[in-house]
Amino acid sequence: MKIRTVFVGLAVATFSVIAMAQAPIVIKFSHVVAADTPKGKASVFFANKAAELTKGKAKVEVYANSALYKDKEEMEALQLGAVQMLAPSLAKFGPLGVKEFEAFDFPYIFDDTADLHKITQGPVGASMLAKLEPKGIKGLAFWDNGFKSFSANTPIKTPADLKGKKLRIQSSKVLEEQIRSVGGLPQVMAFSEVYQALQTGVVDGTENPISNLYTQKMHEVQKHLTLTNHGYLGYAVIVNKKFWEGLPADVRGQLEQAMKEATVYANKIAQEENDMALEGVKKSGKTTVYVPSKEEKLAFKKAMAPVHSKMADRVGKDLLQSIYKETGFDPNKL
Ligand code: LMR
Repeated sequence: MKIRTVFVGLAVATFSVIAMAQAPIVIKFSHVVAADTPKGKASVFFANKAAELTKGKAKVEVYANSALYKDKEEMEALQLGAVQMLAPSLAKFGPLGVKEFEAFDFPYIFDDTADLHKITQGPVGASMLAKLEPKGIKGLAFWDNGFKSFSANTPIKTPADLKGKKLRIQSSKVLEEQIRSVGGLPQVMAFSEVYQALQTGVVDGTENPISNLYTQKMHEVQKHLTLTNHGYLGYAVIVNKKFWEGLPADVRGQLEQAMKEATVYANKIAQEENDMALEGVKKSGKTTVYVPSKEEKLAFKKAMAPVHSKMADRVGKDLLQSIYKETGFDPNKL
């Protein structure tokens, strides 16, 4: 009887040790957009790559559409270690106290993706990610989404068309100033609440890359979309620093490789996804899509140009100058 008990005990203990040895390291990856967006697809790509390269030692669980946390909460959850990985938009680092990231929010600061990559794939971007470390966060990569356009229920052809409109933005002081520069009323709101706010008229309009507008069906509650492409929205993929540094070195290396490949994938599909979303919006027939002329676009640029000098101190004049130097943008020469 006694021998049998010992035997059973040993078997249970052995089984638990084996089970423990085989239990994968779980990485919860939370985000706020739909699964069929550039970020949604790239996070699933990363999860699959991570499983492949670590041979199942790491399991990345992706939670889309604010299923776990809304905008602000997810950052807190990451710092507490309740979730291990996020890809917040760059605008969402200002409220964390890393105001430099709001440099990405300056209107028209990047002409195109080539300009953007000079920053996100160069030394300026790397030095910005390093600023997250004192917050207990490690920045792994920048993932593209795209350029934002304004939508509302009335036509938008000139900056004056936005005057007096309540426009939803992310929580960024630079974005607030950008909306004020065209006479609008900035309304900070979590992404998951925007559709309903537009539907019920709590806000009149908003700004989005088209992939976000389309996959949240915002175009169904907005009659007009003007392709202003006035600012950039993209992401930094981040992890809880303590968690990341505590990973076995081999697993961390494999995950870094998976992230490298996911970043190439993310940046390859971002434009395609936005193009497809625009086609979807057009096909829906719910929103009139307006392409501003060169002159009309210049009027938006000029109206928003003062944001650069007004908000330079917030992100740091030197940082702003180093971006201008890379991209050739000059808000005083429009
Ligand atoms: C937003 O709040 O508009 C964006 O940050 C959503 C996202 O993650 O693309």
